[in-house]
Amino acid sequence: MKIAVVGKGNVGGGLADRWEQAGHDVARIGREGGDVGDAEVVLFAVPGAGVPDALEKVEGASGKVVIDATNLASSAPPAGFASNAEFLKSKLNGPTAKSFNINFARLYDQLGEARATPSNLWCGDDEARDAVEALNRDAGYEPVYAGPLSNAAAQERLIDLIFAINQGGLGPFVYRMAPPDQL
Ligand SMILES: NC(=O)c1ccc[n+]([C@@H]2O[C@H](COP(=O)([O-])OP(=O)(O)OC[C@H]3O[C@@H](n4cnc5c(N)ncnc54)[C@H](OP(=O)(O)O)[C@@H]3O)[C@@H](O)[C@H]2O)c1
Repeated sequence: MKIAVVGKGNVGGGLADRWEQAGHDVARIGREGGDVGDAEVVLFAVPGAGVPDALEKVEGASGKVVIDATNLASSAPPAGFASNAEFLKSKLNGPTAKSFNINFARLYDQLGEARATPSNLWCGDDEARDAVEALNRDAGYEPVYAGPLSNAAAQERLIDLIFAINQGGLGPFVYRMAPPDQL
């Protein structure tokens, strides 16, 4: 797959490395922006409050499959939108998903050490399913579908609980959601 990652940090850079190792062709776009017209899938992995700015500097993203990996932390989504993912959908109009926001980038290199494949949530458009689920597997996760894009705000809010668990003493962790016979 041809992928463009917008944001070259822990998430964008880390996933780009894993996807390249899996054989994908990845373009890395930093804060200077760039043209993603060649890509089939565009990942947004910038600070949550920086999504509108990042979008302005990216050309050629209209109609592409978009994956929004951002978390809002203490910021709010763009005015008039419940989530960054729905904001991106409204501007680019392609199949859109929220994924890779509910996991710790610092553990990407250890995913293969887990007894069972760690889960990673995604919600979004059915037209994005094939790409999002393939890219989850190629990053080392088992994708877990969490409903339509209207659930993106709930998936963004889940990060508060993930951080609370992290800071409650567990530290960075993976998780798995599966029927009992698959745990
Ligand atoms: N870290 C995690 O474990 C984790 C997990 C899930 C989701 N997230 C979310 O994923 C996003 C990225 O997190 P991260 O840990 O990868 O952050 P990070 O390491 O700080 O990387 C963010 C990247 O975005 C770039 N950037 C900032 N503003 C930009 C803009 N306007 N346009 C394009 N690029 C821009 C930064 O460029 P510069 O280097 O030039 O500043 C940097 O390369 C955040 O929304 C975060 O909440 C993080």
